[in-house]
Amino acid sequence: KIVVLDFGSQYSHLICRRIREFSVYAELVPFDISHEELQKHNPKGIIFSGGPSSVYNSDAPVPENKIFDMNLPLLGICYGHQLIVNKFGGKVKRANKEYGSSLLTIDNDKNLLSGIGGSVRAWMSHGDEAEQIPPGFKVIGHTESAKAAAIASDERSIYGIQFHPEVVHTEQGTEILKNFVLKVCRAKQDWTMEGFIDSAVNKISKIEGDVLCGVSGGIDSTVAALLIHKAIGNRLKCVFVNNGLLRLNEEIEIKEMFEKNFNVNFTMVDAVQDFLSKLKGIEDPERKRKIIGEEFINVFTDFAKNKGPFKWLAQGTLYPDVIESGVSKGPAAVIKSHHNVGGLPDWLDLEILEPLRELYKDEVRKIAKILGVPEKLFMRHPFPGPGLAVRIIGEVTPKKLQISKVASKIVEDELIASGFYGKVWQAYAAVGDDKAVGVVGDERKYGNIVMIRVVDSIDAMTADWTRLPHELLEKISNRITNEVEDVTWVTYAISSKPPATIEPQ
Ligand code: XMP
Repeated sequence: KIVVLDFGSQYSHLICRRIREFSVYAELVPFDISHEELQKHNPKGIIFSGGPSSVYNSDAPVPENKIFDMNLPLLGICYGHQLIVNKFGGKVKRANKEYGSSLLTIDNDKNLLSGIGGSVRAWMSHGDEAEQIPPGFKVIGHTESAKAAAIASDERSIYGIQFHPEVVHTEQGTEILKNFVLKVCRAKQDWTMEGFIDSAVNKISKIEGDVLCGVSGGIDSTVAALLIHKAIGNRLKCVFVNNGLLRLNEEIEIKEMFEKNFNVNFTMVDAVQDFLSKLKGIEDPERKRKIIGEEFINVFTDFAKNKGPFKWLAQGTLYPDVIESGVSKGPAAVIKSHHNVGGLPDWLDLEILEPLRELYKDEVRKIAKILGVPEKLFMRHPFPGPGLAVRIIGEVTPKKLQISKVASKIVEDELIASGFYGKVWQAYAAVGDDKAVGVVGDERKYGNIVMIRVVDSIDAMTADWTRLPHELLEKISNRITNEVEDVTWVTYAISSKPPATIEPQ
């Protein structure tokens, strides 16, 4: 195992992900972890992440001194590099800011930089640099502006690099990490998803009592449920709330998958009327979300009360939700409340079971594949917990739900047929209260306007509208006006995020 100390870089998680990609387990811990705690991890090597601070400031985050006495191989990246320079007697100074790609010339191709070649493009993002390297270290790589962009003490297995090997813009970045992890630390490549499934199932099989798991049809709750089911069979009870705000026929697909494909103890609670009656007359988006959240809790509480007792509540929490350490956020681990089932009453006295809390999303996808989750489910776009209520503008009515469901299905099907589905972040059609006159046959008709929203995004933080071919938009528009009753106009949303969002409500 490799342990990464988090000094607050936006790329800290990326270091772990890259290392796990070559089958070595890597974990992110707060920078101020004690050496005793660190020892419990039994690491083969330590990495210091980057971070926004300057080592010469009095409030700069520093690791506990005794960590250096553990004599483990050490790699510092960016701020981590400067920490090493500072700690071992070199000098760090303020320099011209350097952002983006620089040409790194390799001066010594042993150990850390072996097999990398004469020079590579390396991604830089820093304002400080090593002015003087510590005694006993040598420069193993430089750029035009940074004389000591990579330094080494091969005897002590300590390395510092100013650039970020974990980002894709650094050529051979993974090779550099591999050199450190495999050659210097000699870590074993034993982190596989098959191995994870075995050990997770083994651990879960030892728990006592029944487990309640709310499933949404999304990848995380599905995989969590399947792992637990593998371990304890029908002591796992899955509950799925049909709130009427799902995609067309989605509730039927989810029920079939759990009952027929997986033979899981599965209950679908039909709460469509409860949700719709509570949403009647509500136009304000925030109120809609709040009502939906409360209603989920009501349904869950009833289920837990009537079908219990349950000892555990299972959740599909992933690793990035678990640890939010680092200087910018404070060292304490913050656990985000998760979607719809956070906030169940205390008297139910449920303990939380989170079988995926060590995993990244791509790892969950791999497990889904191994466990036989249908491809369709994990290729599907993300879908918000409050469902179509965040897509429908204004009041949620049965009529508007029906239009949104059928029109969205047309959008999805046409994107799949034209090969665009996998390339975009999200794609759907929504409806509001605006109407427009159309001509159907020879008759004037006052019908609904349907808005199509298709966006490109990497992480939903920012998004841009997708430049779909006009012919495809035309085909979608024609199908919607022909096949969905009472729709006269189709519009395409061309606002990016910001200033707009992806879901309008
Ligand atoms: P916005 O519209 O905020 O959406 O730009 C960003 C991404 O988050 C999804 N989203 C939600 N997901 N519960 C969820 O589980 C929600 O309340 C929620 N609101 C937005 C949205 O679908 C998009 O992928």
